[in-house]
Amino acid sequence: MTLLFDTHTHLDSYQFDEDRDEVIQRAKDAGVHMLLNIGFNRETIPTTIALAEQYEFIYAAVGWHPVDSINMLPEDLEWIEHLCAHEKVVAIGEIGLDYHWDTSPKDVQQRVFREQIRLARKVGKRIVIHNRDAHEDVVRILQEENAADVGGVMHCYSGSWETAKRCLDMNFYISFGGPVTFQNARVPKEVLKQVPLDRLLIETDAPYLAPHPYRGKRNESSYVSLVAETAAELLGKTVEEIGAITTENGKKCFGIV
Ligand code: NI
Repeated sequence: MTLLFDTHTHLDSYQFDEDRDEVIQRAKDAGVHMLLNIGFNRETIPTTIALAEQYEFIYAAVGWHPVDSINMLPEDLEWIEHLCAHEKVVAIGEIGLDYHWDTSPKDVQQRVFREQIRLARKVGKRIVIHNRDAHEDVVRILQEENAADVGGVMHCYSGSWETAKRCLDMNFYISFGGPVTFQNARVPKEVLKQVPLDRLLIETDAPYLAPHPYRGKRNESSYVSLVAETAAELLGKTVEEIGAITTENGKKCFGIV
């Protein structure tokens, strides 16, 4: 049996309201024995915590998404800090920069990103990074804020190998999701092949970014097996080996014993 760790998913999303328990059961049936659910704003943080409390194999990350930066109040940051003491909360995230959607101005995104890196260093948690069209600023801020002290995950990585190297140097793991399975995903496939095996993670980002052949459909955590298959093909390994390697990496990354 292949064991898999989906290190980034949003199973609390409303897209799963009709069939959440079945979706979670399908993930288990597909060998997913660990999940990290990400809560990223005032609505999804409580639902993420609830899911982690309900299911033994579901862990939680809590943070404030860059798209929502404009709405983060000082008490929200205190709330996140408070939740970091929860036994199932293993990381702060997803945090970062998103220059694709301009719902929050860049300067506000950057301030909120910095505040959460500082919080992570204060409480000693890993960070889960969301980066869309902002590679240079993300890496620069990680450097300026000494994010290497905590490290974390570059979630659904889509950048160049050059940028990946700089993130690896700062103690980050590189995580690949559905897009790496797309036939035209030349760059992500090349980057995956170069990432050191002990820094490789896989994820779904469900309900978004479904892998081939479900592209454009609702994604779910069981599909992380398709990401594992692509990684196995690219690296000349079995799916079982990829599952074991990425599970071990995920546990080490998030301090799960
Ligand atoms: Ni996400």
